[in-house]
Amino acid sequence: MLQHEVVVVGAGLAGQRAALAAVEAGRDVAIVSKLHPLRSHSGAAQGGINAAVGAEDSVDTHIYDTVKGSDYLGDQDAIEFFCREAGPTVIEMEHFGTIFSRGADGSLARRAFGGAGFPRTIYAADRTGLALLQGLWERLGTERFALYEETELVRLVVRDGRVQGLIALDRRRGEFEEIAAKAVVLATGPAGRIYGRTTNAHSCTGDGLAAAYDVGAFLKDMEFVQFHPTALLESSILITEGARGEGGYLKNAAGERFMSKYAPHVVELASRDVVSRAIVTEVKEGRGLAGPYGGYVHLELMHLGKEKVESRLQEICDYSRHFAGIDPVTQPIPVYPAQHYMMGGIGTNIRGETNLAGLYAAGEAACVSIHGANRLGGNSLLETLVFGKQAGIAAAAYAAAAPRPEMHATDLETAVAPLRAWSGRTEGEDPSALRTEMQETMDRYVGIYRNEADLLEGLQRIRRLRERFERVRVVDRSTVYNLNLTDAIETGNMLELAEVIVVGAYARLESRGAHSRTDYPKRDDARWMRHTMAARGPEGPTLSYSPVAYTRWEPKERVY
Ligand code: FUM
Repeated sequence: MLQHEVVVVGAGLAGQRAALAAVEAGRDVAIVSKLHPLRSHSGAAQGGINAAVGAEDSVDTHIYDTVKGSDYLGDQDAIEFFCREAGPTVIEMEHFGTIFSRGADGSLARRAFGGAGFPRTIYAADRTGLALLQGLWERLGTERFALYEETELVRLVVRDGRVQGLIALDRRRGEFEEIAAKAVVLATGPAGRIYGRTTNAHSCTGDGLAAAYDVGAFLKDMEFVQFHPTALLESSILITEGARGEGGYLKNAAGERFMSKYAPHVVELASRDVVSRAIVTEVKEGRGLAGPYGGYVHLELMHLGKEKVESRLQEICDYSRHFAGIDPVTQPIPVYPAQHYMMGGIGTNIRGETNLAGLYAAGEAACVSIHGANRLGGNSLLETLVFGKQAGIAAAAYAAAAPRPEMHATDLETAVAPLRAWSGRTEGEDPSALRTEMQETMDRYVGIYRNEADLLEGLQRIRRLRERFERVRVVDRSTVYNLNLTDAIETGNMLELAEVIVVGAYARLESRGAHSRTDYPKRDDARWMRHTMAARGPEGPTLSYSPVAYTRWEPKERVY
Protein backbone atom coordinates (compact mmCIF):
# COMPACT_ATOMS: atom_id res chain seq x y z
CA MET A 1 0.00 0.00 0.00
CA LEU A 2 1.20 3.51 -0.80
CA GLN A 3 1.02 6.18 1.87
CA HIS A 4 1.36 9.97 1.92
CA GLU A 5 0.33 12.75 4.25
CA VAL A 6 -1.48 14.83 1.63
CA VAL A 7 -2.77 13.36 -1.63
CA VAL A 8 -3.98 15.80 -4.28
CA VAL A 9 -6.20 14.31 -6.97
CA GLY A 10 -5.93 16.27 -10.21
CA ALA A 11 -2.88 18.06 -11.58
CA GLY A 12 -4.34 21.14 -13.24
CA LEU A 13 -3.78 24.58 -11.79
CA ALA A 14 -5.81 24.01 -8.62
CA GLY A 15 -4.16 20.66 -7.92
CA GLN A 16 -0.66 21.88 -8.58
CA ARG A 17 -1.20 25.00 -6.49
CA ALA A 18 -2.55 22.90 -3.61
CA ALA A 19 0.40 20.53 -3.88
CA LEU A 20 2.87 23.43 -3.88
CA ALA A 21 1.32 24.88 -0.72
CA ALA A 22 1.39 21.50 1.03
CA VAL A 23 5.00 20.84 -0.06
CA GLU A 24 6.05 24.28 1.19
CA ALA A 25 4.37 23.48 4.52
CA GLY A 26 6.72 20.52 4.83
CA ARG A 27 4.29 17.68 4.19
CA ASP A 28 4.87 14.46 2.25
CA VAL A 29 2.70 15.09 -0.84
CA ALA A 30 1.52 13.02 -3.80
CA ILE A 31 -0.43 14.01 -6.89
CA VAL A 32 -2.74 11.47 -8.52
CA SER A 33 -3.72 12.45 -12.04
CA LYS A 34 -5.29 10.65 -14.96
CA LEU A 35 -3.31 12.86 -17.36
CA HIS A 36 0.19 14.20 -17.48
CA PRO A 37 -0.08 17.46 -15.47
CA LEU A 38 0.74 19.64 -18.47
CA ARG A 39 -2.15 18.08 -20.40
CA SER A 40 -4.68 19.08 -17.75
CA HIS A 41 -7.77 20.95 -18.91
CA SER A 42 -6.49 24.16 -17.24
CA GLY A 43 -4.24 24.40 -20.29
CA ALA A 44 -7.30 24.91 -22.48
CA ALA A 45 -8.23 28.18 -20.74
CA GLN A 46 -7.65 30.88 -23.26
CA GLY A 47 -8.72 34.44 -22.52
CA GLY A 48 -7.15 35.37 -19.21
CA ILE A 49 -7.19 35.83 -15.45
CA ASN A 50 -8.87 38.70 -13.62
CA ALA A 51 -7.08 40.97 -11.20
CA ALA A 52 -7.65 44.61 -10.35
CA VAL A 53 -4.09 45.90 -10.75
CA GLY A 54 -3.14 49.46 -11.65
CA ALA A 55 -4.49 52.75 -10.33
CA GLU A 56 -7.57 53.02 -12.59
CA ASP A 57 -9.19 49.77 -11.44
CA SER A 58 -10.20 48.78 -7.90
CA VAL A 59 -10.64 45.58 -5.96
CA ASP A 60 -14.07 46.83 -4.90
CA THR A 61 -15.16 47.06 -8.54
CA HIS A 62 -13.95 43.50 -9.12
CA ILE A 63 -15.91 42.39 -6.05
CA TYR A 64 -19.04 44.20 -7.19
CA ASP A 65 -18.81 42.83 -10.75
CA THR A 66 -18.44 39.29 -9.38
CA VAL A 67 -21.38 39.70 -6.98
CA LYS A 68 -23.56 41.13 -9.75
CA GLY A 69 -22.36 38.51 -12.24
CA SER A 70 -23.32 35.78 -9.76
CA ASP A 71 -26.88 37.18 -9.79
CA TYR A 72 -26.44 37.71 -6.06
CA LEU A 73 -26.04 34.03 -5.26
CA GLY A 74 -22.28 34.25 -4.66
CA ASP A 75 -21.17 34.39 -1.03
CA GLN A 76 -19.95 37.94 -0.61
CA ASP A 77 -17.43 37.19 2.13
CA ALA A 78 -15.79 34.59 -0.11
CA ILE A 79 -15.89 36.95 -3.11
CA GLU A 80 -14.20 39.69 -1.11
CA PHE A 81 -11.42 37.34 -0.06
CA PHE A 82 -11.07 36.05 -3.63
CA CYS A 83 -10.80 39.46 -5.29
CA ARG A 84 -8.32 40.76 -2.71
CA GLU A 85 -6.07 37.78 -3.42
CA ALA A 86 -6.19 38.39 -7.19
CA GLY A 87 -3.38 40.95 -7.58
CA PRO A 88 -0.86 39.11 -5.36
CA THR A 89 -1.76 35.83 -7.10
CA VAL A 90 -1.03 37.17 -10.59
CA ILE A 91 2.23 38.78 -9.44
CA GLU A 92 3.23 35.53 -7.76
CA MET A 93 2.56 33.59 -10.98
CA GLU A 94 4.68 36.07 -12.87
CA HIS A 95 7.49 35.50 -10.41
CA PHE A 96 7.02 31.76 -10.89
CA GLY A 97 7.81 32.28 -14.57
CA THR A 98 4.49 32.82 -16.38
CA ILE A 99 5.07 35.13 -19.33
CA PHE A 100 2.04 37.42 -19.66
CA SER A 101 1.37 39.67 -22.65
CA ARG A 102 2.54 43.27 -22.20
CA GLY A 103 1.26 46.70 -23.15
CA ALA A 104 3.36 49.20 -25.12
CA ASP A 105 4.75 50.60 -21.83
CA GLY A 106 5.77 47.16 -20.60
CA SER A 107 2.99 46.84 -18.01
CA LEU A 108 0.73 43.77 -17.84
CA ALA A 109 -1.67 43.91 -20.79
CA ARG A 110 -5.36 43.74 -19.88
CA ARG A 111 -8.40 43.13 -22.02
CA ALA A 112 -12.12 43.62 -21.51
CA PHE A 113 -14.21 40.60 -20.55
CA GLY A 114 -17.95 40.18 -20.17
CA GLY A 115 -19.67 41.61 -17.11
CA ALA A 116 -16.55 43.48 -15.97
CA GLY A 117 -16.74 47.19 -15.16
CA PHE A 118 -13.11 47.64 -16.20
CA PRO A 119 -10.76 45.80 -18.60
CA ARG A 120 -9.02 43.68 -15.94
CA THR A 121 -8.36 40.38 -17.66
CA ILE A 122 -4.62 39.78 -17.76
CA TYR A 123 -3.55 37.35 -20.46
CA ALA A 124 -0.87 35.52 -22.38
CA ALA A 125 -2.24 35.93 -25.94
CA ASP A 126 -5.05 33.34 -25.97
CA ARG A 127 -3.04 30.63 -24.20
CA THR A 128 -3.27 31.95 -20.66
CA GLY A 129 -4.07 28.63 -19.00
CA LEU A 130 -1.13 26.94 -20.67
CA ALA A 131 1.24 29.76 -19.72
CA LEU A 132 0.15 29.54 -16.07
CA LEU A 133 0.35 25.76 -16.05
CA GLN A 134 3.93 25.81 -17.32
CA GLY A 135 5.04 28.44 -14.80
CA LEU A 136 3.48 26.56 -11.91
CA TRP A 137 4.81 23.17 -13.02
CA GLU A 138 8.34 24.53 -13.13
CA ARG A 139 7.95 26.07 -9.69
CA LEU A 140 6.51 22.92 -8.17
CA GLY A 141 9.57 20.89 -9.23
CA THR A 142 9.05 17.18 -9.83
CA GLU A 143 11.53 16.09 -7.15
CA ARG A 144 9.47 17.50 -4.27
CA PHE A 145 6.44 15.23 -4.46
CA ALA A 146 5.33 11.81 -5.72
CA LEU A 147 3.43 11.76 -9.01
CA TYR A 148 1.03 8.97 -9.93
CA GLU A 149 0.05 9.88 -13.45
CA GLU A 150 -2.31 8.03 -15.78
CA THR A 151 -3.99 7.07 -12.51
CA GLU A 152 -7.74 7.48 -12.11
CA LEU A 153 -9.63 7.98 -8.86
CA VAL A 154 -12.05 5.11 -8.23
CA ARG A 155 -13.23 5.64 -4.67
CA LEU A 156 -12.45 7.58 -1.52
CA VAL A 157 -12.05 5.68 1.74
CA VAL A 158 -13.81 7.34 4.67
CA ARG A 159 -13.98 5.85 8.14
CA ASP A 160 -15.35 7.45 11.32
CA GLY A 161 -16.27 10.58 9.33
CA ARG A 162 -12.64 11.07 8.32
CA VAL A 163 -10.85 10.51 5.03
CA GLN A 164 -8.32 7.67 5.20
CA GLY A 165 -7.16 7.53 1.61
CA LEU A 166 -8.34 6.38 -1.80
CA ILE A 167 -8.42 3.59 -4.33
CA ALA A 168 -7.21 4.44 -7.84
CA LEU A 169 -6.69 2.66 -11.14
CA ASP A 170 -3.28 2.81 -12.79
CA ARG A 171 -4.38 2.84 -16.41
CA ARG A 172 -0.95 1.91 -17.75
CA ARG A 173 -0.93 -1.43 -15.94
CA GLY A 174 -4.60 -1.97 -15.21
CA GLU A 175 -3.85 -2.34 -11.50
CA PHE A 176 -5.70 -0.86 -8.59
CA GLU A 177 -3.69 1.09 -6.02
CA GLU A 178 -4.51 1.70 -2.37
CA ILE A 179 -3.16 5.07 -1.31
CA ALA A 180 -3.50 5.92 2.38
CA ALA A 181 -3.63 9.64 3.15
CA LYS A 182 -4.29 11.85 6.13
CA ALA A 183 -5.79 14.49 3.86
CA VAL A 184 -7.11 14.36 0.29
CA VAL A 185 -7.56 17.45 -1.91
CA LEU A 186 -9.93 16.95 -4.84
CA ALA A 187 -8.94 19.17 -7.74
CA THR A 188 -10.33 17.06 -10.53
CA GLY A 189 -11.68 19.96 -12.58
CA PRO A 190 -14.81 20.07 -14.73
CA ALA A 191 -17.63 17.64 -15.40
CA GLY A 192 -18.65 19.13 -18.75
CA ARG A 193 -18.71 15.84 -20.62
CA ILE A 194 -22.11 15.24 -19.05
CA TYR A 195 -23.21 17.34 -22.03
CA GLY A 196 -22.59 16.52 -25.67
CA ARG A 197 -22.07 20.08 -26.76
CA THR A 198 -19.24 21.26 -24.50
CA THR A 199 -15.96 23.14 -24.64
CA ASN A 200 -14.56 20.68 -22.08
CA ALA A 201 -11.94 18.06 -22.92
CA HIS A 202 -12.80 14.35 -22.97
CA SER A 203 -11.12 14.00 -19.58
CA CYS A 204 -13.63 16.35 -17.89
CA THR A 205 -15.86 13.74 -16.31
CA GLY A 206 -16.37 15.00 -12.75
CA ASP A 207 -14.55 12.10 -11.09
CA GLY A 208 -13.83 14.01 -7.88
CA LEU A 209 -17.40 15.27 -7.52
CA ALA A 210 -18.82 11.79 -7.90
CA ALA A 211 -16.31 10.30 -5.46
CA ALA A 212 -17.03 12.98 -2.85
CA TYR A 213 -20.81 12.66 -3.27
CA ASP A 214 -20.51 8.90 -2.94
CA VAL A 215 -18.99 9.15 0.56
CA GLY A 216 -21.32 11.83 1.93
CA ALA A 217 -19.95 15.20 0.83
CA PHE A 218 -22.49 17.82 -0.24
CA LEU A 219 -22.69 18.95 -3.85
CA LYS A 220 -23.69 22.60 -3.94
CA ASP A 221 -25.65 24.59 -6.56
CA MET A 222 -25.23 21.95 -9.25
CA GLU A 223 -28.15 23.23 -11.30
CA PHE A 224 -26.11 26.27 -12.36
CA VAL A 225 -24.41 25.22 -15.57
CA GLN A 226 -22.57 27.80 -17.65
CA PHE A 227 -22.85 27.83 -21.43
CA HIS A 228 -20.09 29.78 -23.16
CA PRO A 229 -21.66 31.95 -25.88
CA THR A 230 -19.02 31.36 -28.52
CA ALA A 231 -18.05 27.78 -29.18
CA LEU A 232 -16.97 26.86 -32.69
CA LEU A 233 -19.84 25.27 -34.55
CA GLU A 234 -19.72 21.45 -34.81
CA SER A 235 -16.60 20.81 -32.66
CA SER A 236 -17.64 23.16 -29.79
CA ILE A 237 -14.02 24.24 -29.34
CA LEU A 238 -13.84 27.36 -27.20
CA ILE A 239 -13.55 30.66 -29.06
CA THR A 240 -12.38 32.91 -26.28
CA GLU A 241 -14.42 35.77 -24.88
CA GLY A 242 -11.15 37.63 -25.46
CA ALA A 243 -12.21 37.79 -29.12
CA ARG A 244 -15.11 40.04 -28.09
CA GLY A 245 -12.87 41.74 -25.53
CA GLU A 246 -10.56 42.71 -28.38
CA GLY A 247 -13.55 44.24 -30.19
CA GLY A 248 -15.23 41.32 -32.00
CA TYR A 249 -18.90 41.64 -33.04
CA LEU A 250 -21.70 39.11 -32.86
CA LYS A 251 -24.02 39.29 -35.87
CA ASN A 252 -27.17 37.49 -36.93
CA ALA A 253 -28.15 36.40 -40.45
CA ALA A 254 -29.24 39.95 -41.32
CA GLY A 255 -25.81 41.27 -40.30
CA GLU A 256 -27.24 43.03 -37.20
CA ARG A 257 -25.22 43.36 -34.00
CA PHE A 258 -28.13 41.84 -32.17
CA MET A 259 -26.58 42.16 -28.69
CA SER A 260 -27.48 45.85 -28.66
CA LYS A 261 -31.11 44.74 -28.10
CA TYR A 262 -30.26 42.51 -25.14
CA ALA A 263 -27.47 44.52 -23.47
CA PRO A 264 -27.64 48.11 -24.74
CA HIS A 265 -24.83 49.41 -22.51
CA VAL A 266 -22.12 46.82 -23.07
CA VAL A 267 -23.40 44.98 -26.18
CA GLU A 268 -21.17 41.90 -26.81
CA LEU A 269 -19.58 42.26 -23.37
CA ALA A 270 -22.57 41.34 -21.25
CA SER A 271 -22.11 38.38 -18.94
CA ARG A 272 -22.13 34.91 -20.45
CA ASP A 273 -25.61 33.85 -19.40
CA VAL A 274 -27.06 36.95 -21.07
CA VAL A 275 -25.10 36.52 -24.33
CA SER A 276 -25.81 32.78 -24.56
CA ARG A 277 -29.54 33.33 -24.12
CA ALA A 278 -29.46 36.08 -26.75
CA ILE A 279 -27.82 33.79 -29.32
CA VAL A 280 -30.29 30.97 -28.66
CA THR A 281 -33.18 33.44 -28.92
CA GLU A 282 -31.93 34.82 -32.23
CA VAL A 283 -31.66 31.33 -33.68
CA LYS A 284 -35.01 30.15 -32.24
CA GLU A 285 -36.80 33.19 -33.60
CA GLY A 286 -35.41 32.63 -37.08
CA ARG A 287 -32.76 35.36 -37.18
CA GLY A 288 -29.77 33.02 -36.99
CA LEU A 289 -27.89 31.29 -39.76
CA ALA A 290 -28.55 27.65 -40.52
CA GLY A 291 -26.36 24.79 -41.65
CA PRO A 292 -25.87 21.04 -41.31
CA TYR A 293 -24.79 21.47 -37.66
CA GLY A 294 -27.82 23.51 -36.67
CA GLY A 295 -28.44 27.20 -36.15
CA TYR A 296 -25.63 29.61 -35.35
CA VAL A 297 -24.50 33.24 -35.43
CA HIS A 298 -21.35 34.95 -36.66
CA LEU A 299 -18.46 36.24 -34.59
CA GLU A 300 -16.71 38.86 -36.71
CA LEU A 301 -13.10 39.88 -36.17
CA MET A 302 -12.29 41.09 -39.70
CA HIS A 303 -12.52 44.79 -38.77
CA LEU A 304 -9.79 44.33 -36.12
CA GLY A 305 -7.11 43.79 -38.77
CA LYS A 306 -4.75 40.92 -39.47
CA GLU A 307 -1.98 42.04 -37.10
CA LYS A 308 -4.24 42.25 -34.03
CA VAL A 309 -6.17 39.07 -34.77
CA GLU A 310 -3.07 36.99 -35.46
CA SER A 311 -1.04 38.27 -32.52
CA ARG A 312 -3.65 38.39 -29.75
CA LEU A 313 -5.84 35.51 -30.87
CA GLN A 314 -3.37 32.99 -32.20
CA GLU A 315 -5.19 29.86 -31.05
CA ILE A 316 -8.51 31.16 -32.33
CA CYS A 317 -6.94 31.57 -35.75
CA ASP A 318 -5.54 28.03 -35.65
CA TYR A 319 -8.77 26.44 -34.43
CA SER A 320 -10.93 28.30 -36.95
CA ARG A 321 -8.64 27.41 -39.84
CA HIS A 322 -8.15 23.76 -38.87
CA PHE A 323 -11.55 22.84 -37.49
CA ALA A 324 -13.95 25.08 -39.42
CA GLY A 325 -11.94 25.77 -42.56
CA ILE A 326 -12.36 29.52 -42.27
CA ASP A 327 -9.85 32.32 -41.77
CA PRO A 328 -11.03 34.78 -39.07
CA VAL A 329 -8.87 37.52 -40.58
CA THR A 330 -11.12 37.58 -43.63
CA GLN A 331 -14.23 35.55 -42.69
CA PRO A 332 -16.75 35.45 -39.80
CA ILE A 333 -16.49 32.55 -37.33
CA PRO A 334 -19.65 30.39 -36.98
CA VAL A 335 -20.44 30.06 -33.26
CA TYR A 336 -23.14 28.73 -30.95
CA PRO A 337 -23.21 28.32 -27.14
CA ALA A 338 -21.84 25.15 -25.54
CA GLN A 339 -21.57 23.94 -21.97
CA HIS A 340 -18.38 25.42 -20.53
CA TYR A 341 -18.30 25.44 -16.73
CA MET A 342 -20.15 24.20 -13.65
CA MET A 343 -20.80 26.90 -11.09
CA GLY A 344 -21.69 24.11 -8.68
CA GLY A 345 -19.38 21.56 -7.14
CA ILE A 346 -18.25 20.03 -3.87
CA GLY A 347 -19.35 22.47 -1.17
CA THR A 348 -16.38 24.09 0.59
CA ASN A 349 -15.48 27.14 2.61
CA ILE A 350 -12.63 29.46 1.55
CA ARG A 351 -10.09 27.05 3.06
CA GLY A 352 -11.30 24.26 0.79
CA GLU A 353 -12.77 22.32 3.72
CA THR A 354 -15.75 20.10 2.98
CA ASN A 355 -18.21 18.59 5.45
CA LEU A 356 -15.89 15.55 5.84
CA ALA A 357 -12.75 15.75 7.98
CA GLY A 358 -9.61 15.52 5.88
CA LEU A 359 -11.43 16.07 2.57
CA TYR A 360 -10.71 19.28 0.68
CA ALA A 361 -11.67 20.51 -2.77
CA ALA A 362 -10.56 23.36 -5.03
CA GLY A 363 -10.93 24.70 -8.54
CA GLU A 364 -13.88 23.84 -10.74
CA ALA A 365 -14.55 20.69 -8.73
CA ALA A 366 -15.40 22.89 -5.74
CA CYS A 367 -18.18 25.37 -5.01
CA VAL A 368 -16.99 27.95 -2.48
CA SER A 369 -19.30 29.78 -3.67
CA ILE A 370 -17.85 32.78 -5.50
CA HIS A 371 -19.60 32.37 -8.85
CA GLY A 372 -23.13 31.91 -7.55
CA ALA A 373 -25.51 31.50 -10.46
CA ASN A 374 -23.14 32.72 -13.18
CA ARG A 375 -19.35 32.94 -13.38
CA LEU A 376 -17.55 35.88 -14.97
CA GLY A 377 -14.96 34.99 -17.59
CA GLY A 378 -11.43 35.28 -16.20
CA ASN A 379 -12.51 34.38 -12.65
CA SER A 380 -11.96 30.66 -13.19
CA LEU A 381 -8.19 30.68 -13.62
CA LEU A 382 -8.01 32.95 -10.61
CA GLU A 383 -10.19 30.59 -8.59
CA THR A 384 -7.88 27.62 -9.28
CA LEU A 385 -4.85 29.47 -7.93
CA VAL A 386 -6.44 31.32 -4.98
CA PHE A 387 -8.40 28.38 -3.61
CA GLY A 388 -5.91 25.71 -4.69
CA LYS A 389 -3.39 27.43 -2.43
CA GLN A 390 -5.88 27.75 0.45
CA ALA A 391 -6.86 24.08 0.21
CA GLY A 392 -3.20 23.04 0.17
CA ILE A 393 -2.43 25.14 3.24
CA ALA A 394 -5.46 23.80 5.13
CA ALA A 395 -4.84 20.17 4.13
CA ALA A 396 -1.20 20.43 5.20
CA ALA A 397 -2.14 21.88 8.59
CA TYR A 398 -4.75 19.19 9.11
CA ALA A 399 -2.37 16.40 8.07
CA ALA A 400 0.31 17.65 10.46
CA ALA A 401 -1.97 16.87 13.41
CA ALA A 402 -4.10 14.02 12.04
CA PRO A 403 -3.74 10.41 13.20
CA ARG A 404 -2.32 7.69 10.93
CA PRO A 405 -4.84 6.81 8.23
CA GLU A 406 -6.60 3.50 8.72
CA MET A 407 -7.07 1.53 5.52
CA HIS A 408 -8.59 -1.94 5.85
CA ALA A 409 -7.85 -5.03 3.80
CA THR A 410 -11.44 -4.93 2.51
CA ASP A 411 -11.31 -1.33 1.20
CA LEU A 412 -9.81 -2.26 -2.14
CA GLU A 413 -12.16 -5.15 -2.72
CA THR A 414 -15.21 -3.04 -1.81
CA ALA A 415 -14.18 -0.43 -4.38
CA VAL A 416 -13.21 -2.83 -7.10
CA ALA A 417 -15.87 -5.56 -6.82
CA PRO A 418 -18.48 -3.69 -8.92
CA LEU A 419 -15.90 -3.01 -11.61
CA ARG A 420 -14.95 -6.67 -11.76
CA ALA A 421 -18.64 -7.54 -12.10
CA TRP A 422 -18.85 -5.30 -15.19
CA SER A 423 -16.05 -7.29 -16.83
CA GLY A 424 -17.53 -10.65 -15.82
CA ARG A 425 -20.82 -10.16 -17.70
CA THR A 426 -21.54 -12.00 -20.92
CA GLU A 427 -24.16 -9.48 -21.91
CA GLY A 428 -25.17 -6.01 -20.83
CA GLU A 429 -25.16 -2.34 -21.65
CA ASP A 430 -22.41 -0.59 -23.59
CA PRO A 431 -21.10 2.35 -21.47
CA SER A 432 -20.38 4.51 -24.48
CA ALA A 433 -23.97 4.16 -25.72
CA LEU A 434 -25.25 5.18 -22.27
CA ARG A 435 -22.87 8.14 -22.28
CA THR A 436 -24.10 9.32 -25.66
CA GLU A 437 -27.75 9.06 -24.58
CA MET A 438 -26.96 10.97 -21.38
CA GLN A 439 -25.28 13.74 -23.37
CA GLU A 440 -28.18 13.98 -25.82
CA THR A 441 -30.62 14.10 -22.91
CA MET A 442 -28.76 16.87 -21.12
CA ASP A 443 -28.34 18.90 -24.32
CA ARG A 444 -31.99 18.57 -25.19
CA TYR A 445 -33.74 18.86 -21.81
CA VAL A 446 -31.37 20.58 -19.38
CA GLY A 447 -29.85 23.32 -21.52
CA ILE A 448 -29.91 27.09 -21.55
CA TYR A 449 -33.70 27.51 -21.39
CA ARG A 450 -35.48 25.12 -19.06
CA ASN A 451 -39.08 24.35 -18.07
CA GLU A 452 -40.90 21.86 -15.88
CA ALA A 453 -41.94 19.47 -18.64
CA ASP A 454 -38.45 19.27 -20.16
CA LEU A 455 -36.75 18.87 -16.81
CA LEU A 456 -39.14 16.10 -15.81
CA GLU A 457 -38.55 14.33 -19.10
CA GLY A 458 -34.81 14.80 -18.66
CA LEU A 459 -34.95 13.41 -15.13
CA GLN A 460 -36.91 10.34 -16.17
CA ARG A 461 -34.50 9.65 -19.00
CA ILE A 462 -31.43 10.05 -16.77
CA ARG A 463 -33.01 7.74 -14.18
CA ARG A 464 -33.70 5.11 -16.85
CA LEU A 465 -30.09 5.39 -17.98
CA ARG A 466 -28.96 4.91 -14.39
CA GLU A 467 -31.06 1.76 -14.16
CA ARG A 468 -29.54 0.51 -17.40
CA PHE A 469 -26.10 1.31 -16.03
CA GLU A 470 -26.74 -1.34 -13.34
CA ARG A 471 -26.25 -3.84 -16.18
CA VAL A 472 -23.22 -2.17 -17.74
CA ARG A 473 -20.75 -4.49 -19.40
CA VAL A 474 -17.03 -4.05 -20.09
CA VAL A 475 -16.06 -6.25 -23.01
CA ASP A 476 -12.39 -5.28 -23.27
CA ARG A 477 -10.25 -7.59 -21.08
CA SER A 478 -6.95 -5.81 -21.61
CA THR A 479 -4.99 -4.45 -18.68
CA VAL A 480 -3.08 -1.77 -20.59
CA TYR A 481 -5.13 1.40 -21.08
CA ASN A 482 -8.49 -0.33 -20.93
CA LEU A 483 -10.53 2.63 -22.13
CA ASN A 484 -13.71 0.56 -22.11
CA LEU A 485 -13.28 0.20 -18.33
CA THR A 486 -12.48 3.88 -17.74
CA ASP A 487 -15.41 4.81 -19.97
CA ALA A 488 -17.68 2.74 -17.72
CA ILE A 489 -16.27 4.28 -14.52
CA GLU A 490 -16.67 7.81 -15.88
CA THR A 491 -20.11 7.23 -17.36
CA GLY A 492 -21.38 5.90 -14.03
CA ASN A 493 -19.99 8.97 -12.30
CA MET A 494 -21.48 11.38 -14.82
CA LEU A 495 -24.91 9.77 -14.72
CA GLU A 496 -24.98 10.29 -10.98
CA LEU A 497 -23.97 13.95 -11.36
CA ALA A 498 -26.46 14.48 -14.20
CA GLU A 499 -29.22 13.37 -11.87
CA VAL A 500 -28.10 15.91 -9.25
CA ILE A 501 -28.11 18.69 -11.86
CA VAL A 502 -31.61 17.90 -13.09
CA VAL A 503 -33.10 17.40 -9.63
CA GLY A 504 -31.69 20.77 -8.51
CA ALA A 505 -32.90 22.51 -11.68
CA TYR A 506 -36.37 20.98 -11.38
CA ALA A 507 -36.68 22.11 -7.77
CA ARG A 508 -35.50 25.72 -8.29
CA LEU A 509 -38.64 27.60 -9.30
CA GLU A 510 -37.07 30.84 -10.49
CA SER A 511 -34.65 32.19 -13.11
CA ARG A 512 -31.28 33.30 -11.81
CA GLY A 513 -28.02 33.61 -13.72
CA ALA A 514 -27.47 30.59 -15.91
CA HIS A 515 -30.58 28.80 -14.60
CA SER A 516 -33.28 30.18 -16.87
CA ARG A 517 -36.79 28.75 -16.45
CA THR A 518 -39.29 29.88 -19.04
CA ASP A 519 -42.10 28.89 -16.64
CA TYR A 520 -40.57 30.96 -13.79
CA PRO A 521 -38.92 33.81 -15.71
CA LYS A 522 -38.20 36.08 -12.72
CA ARG A 523 -35.58 35.90 -10.01
CA ASP A 524 -37.31 35.20 -6.70
CA ASP A 525 -35.10 36.46 -3.89
CA ALA A 526 -37.73 35.91 -1.21
CA ARG A 527 -37.84 32.15 -1.80
CA TRP A 528 -34.70 31.25 -3.71
CA MET A 529 -31.84 33.40 -2.50
CA ARG A 530 -30.22 30.24 -1.13
CA HIS A 531 -27.78 27.56 -2.08
CA THR A 532 -28.91 24.09 -3.07
CA MET A 533 -27.11 21.35 -1.14
CA ALA A 534 -27.44 17.83 -2.57
CA ALA A 535 -26.59 14.74 -0.54
CA ARG A 536 -26.67 11.19 -1.84
CA GLY A 537 -29.70 9.33 -0.57
CA PRO A 538 -30.91 5.77 -1.19
CA GLU A 539 -33.41 6.96 -3.82
CA GLY A 540 -31.19 9.64 -5.41
CA PRO A 541 -30.21 13.14 -4.34
CA THR A 542 -31.86 14.69 -1.31
CA LEU A 543 -31.89 18.47 -1.35
CA SER A 544 -31.54 20.96 1.46
CA TYR A 545 -30.79 24.67 1.27
CA SER A 546 -28.27 26.94 2.94
CA PRO A 547 -28.16 30.74 3.23
CA VAL A 548 -26.14 33.08 1.02
CA ALA A 549 -23.53 35.22 2.84
CA TYR A 550 -23.91 39.00 2.46
CA THR A 551 -21.49 41.73 3.32
CA ARG A 552 -22.11 44.98 1.43
CA TRP A 553 -24.15 44.48 -1.70
CA GLU A 554 -27.94 44.49 -1.64
CA PRO A 555 -29.52 42.44 -4.44
CA LYS A 556 -30.68 44.57 -7.37
CA GLU A 557 -32.01 43.87 -10.81
CA ARG A 558 -29.12 42.83 -13.04
CA VAL A 559 -28.87 44.96 -16.18
CA TYR A 560 -25.93 45.17 -18.63
O1 FUM B 1 -13.52 32.77 -23.10
C1 FUM B 1 -12.56 32.39 -22.44
O2 FUM B 1 -11.40 32.65 -22.73
C2 FUM B 1 -12.85 31.62 -21.23
C3 FUM B 1 -12.43 32.08 -20.07
C4 FUM B 1 -13.02 31.59 -18.83
O3 FUM B 1 -13.86 30.67 -18.89
O4 FUM B 1 -12.71 32.14 -17.77
